[in-house]
Amino acid sequence: MRITWLGHACFLLEGSKRILIDPFLTGNPLAPVKPGDVKTDLILVTHGHGDHLGDTVEIAKRNNAIVVCIHELSRILVKRDVEVLGMNIGGSAYSMGVKITMVPALHSADFEDESGEIVSSGSPVGFVVEMDGVKVYHTGDTGLFSDMKLIGELYEPDIMLVPIGDLYTMGIKEAVKAVEFVRPKVAIPMHYNTFPPIEKNPEDFKQEAEKFCRVVILKPGESYEYRP
Ligand code: NI
Ligand code: MN
Repeated sequence: MRITWLGHACFLLEGSKRILIDPFLTGNPLAPVKPGDVKTDLILVTHGHGDHLGDTVEIAKRNNAIVVCIHELSRILVKRDVEVLGMNIGGSAYSMGVKITMVPALHSADFEDESGEIVSSGSPVGFVVEMDGVKVYHTGDTGLFSDMKLIGELYEPDIMLVPIGDLYTMGIKEAVKAVEFVRPKVAIPMHYNTFPPIEKNPEDFKQEAEKFCRVVILKPGESYEYRP
């Protein structure tokens, strides 16, 4: 599986299918691509905040991609003529040979519509995605919670995409503990350096987290090839 970081919490997973997660490109100063450049079969959205939902509607329409997200957010997106697969925490969805399990995240969520009105978009979530026998855990925006141990035990993710930026999510100390809880083979830090309030040195995370797994630091636009 090829994993490309498109900045912030956005990753493109490429194997037998293409899976795009949290495509915040427009308005992201570090985004290495434009929404029109991205090709994908599925889009997974962890929650309704603008830095995660991002360009989902535009990319979904251009690619005829299916958007996988929590039920309440799927109801918002379906009104924007996007094909959705709404689900909820604890369950798994199967689409195009990919298994997608929705797991909890400790965060908040809302959605601001075109008129500026703020509406509920359901709970924020994380995803465990299994494609071609490789399992990737994208935590979404989250604080640390001890049930991450269960996620590690039940789904045994190979790769964990983990926020380190602090302020809105876990900082480095919490992210290191999260990796200790989940015990992936590889951890890739995300949700840092996009804006000044979440500036962090990923090497500080790497130094501590490498007690528990391999840490791969990507630059926006860089890819990592994972071979089981
Ligand atoms: Ni958020
Ligand atoms: Mn965020």
